[in-house]
Amino acid sequence: MANRAAELFARCFGHPPRWVVAAPGRVNLIGEHTDYNDGFVLPMAIERHIVIAGDTNAKREVTLHSVTTGETARFSVQPKVERGEPGWSNYVRGVIAGFQQHGKKVAAFDAVIESSLPYGGGLASSAALEVAVATLLEGMTGQTLDPIEKALLCQQAEHDFAGVPCGIMDQFTSILGREDHALLLDCRSRTTTPVAMTNPDVTVLIINTNIRHKLAESEYAKRRARCETAARVLKVTALRDATLEMLDAARGQMEPVVYRRARHVISEDERTLQAARAIQASDWAAVGQLMYASHASLRDDYEVSCPELDTVVEIAQGIGEAGGIIGCRMTGGGFGGCAVSLVKTEAVQRIMRGLDAAYERKTGTQARIFSSRPAAGACILKSN
Ligand code: GLA
Repeated sequence: MANRAAELFARCFGHPPRWVVAAPGRVNLIGEHTDYNDGFVLPMAIERHIVIAGDTNAKREVTLHSVTTGETARFSVQPKVERGEPGWSNYVRGVIAGFQQHGKKVAAFDAVIESSLPYGGGLASSAALEVAVATLLEGMTGQTLDPIEKALLCQQAEHDFAGVPCGIMDQFTSILGREDHALLLDCRSRTTTPVAMTNPDVTVLIINTNIRHKLAESEYAKRRARCETAARVLKVTALRDATLEMLDAARGQMEPVVYRRARHVISEDERTLQAARAIQASDWAAVGQLMYASHASLRDDYEVSCPELDTVVEIAQGIGEAGGIIGCRMTGGGFGGCAVSLVKTEAVQRIMRGLDAAYERKTGTQARIFSSRPAAGACILKSN
């Protein structure tokens, strides 16, 4: 990919790029919709990336060419970057604006953007784009950001320029991802505990439903607002500080929907901590049960699943332990996108064929299924 991006850059701009950077997407094993509640998540970076080949130019204008969409975006960086079209360029604009707000002078540049991440497929392609741009700007300005500061800057870009009030999980994972490890991230203290995923008998499968329901972004903001309401009623800073007992005691003071949203978040935090311990203890049966329970909670209490994701999980449950499936759940924001499954490595091929055929039969849509090992975070592949 890096070579392809560099070649394309040379064809578009007439000289080789001085920088090539890569940032991975992520899959979340468990801990969904907990990050913006100061809670726990257990994601890993995956072997799918956004790669950018770039170089500064002597103009005032940034030129970006996206291989995925075939579009070219042009915009000025002075006096400051504004939102604009095409939509995906806002992730880039937002990160440049973040650098400028940090008092860093960003020169105009040319770039080619390549991706092996499905765009909008629930594997954090937007966070990977933000992190790749931040990594490119670190290279170009010669100033490396502290990783947490970098993640927050990218998250702010998403809030301000894409209008999505996302948590910190995606940007964090794309930056701090570690080969062969999932990351148990405490979203309040922003500390990570690496959780080894080195057992060769267990494989992570990602099942892309190839469905994206329009609701995703507006519903995300609504979920976040309900959680804040619940925290206010419970008089805690964030749902991370609440227990199920506290929630039950206050049940009469909140709408039933607020109660259910909070029940998901509070129970999901507990499941996430348990899953990290179970992986460390190689108690795969427990990990599987926690994944299924997480899915049920997201489907029934948090209501962010959809028929296609439920279908994948039902098929996986049908194949079950006897067929080599440890656990399965939706992953990411929901309303389409991907499911994640832990499976026995010896059964991978058979499971992929089984899931593929059953999903197409039941939904009329073709899924895309692939495996990934936990990957390292963003890096500069080439400089000068
Ligand atoms: C999206 C957001 C994350 C997180 C997940 C749900 O991916 O970007 O911050 O909230 O949804 O867990």
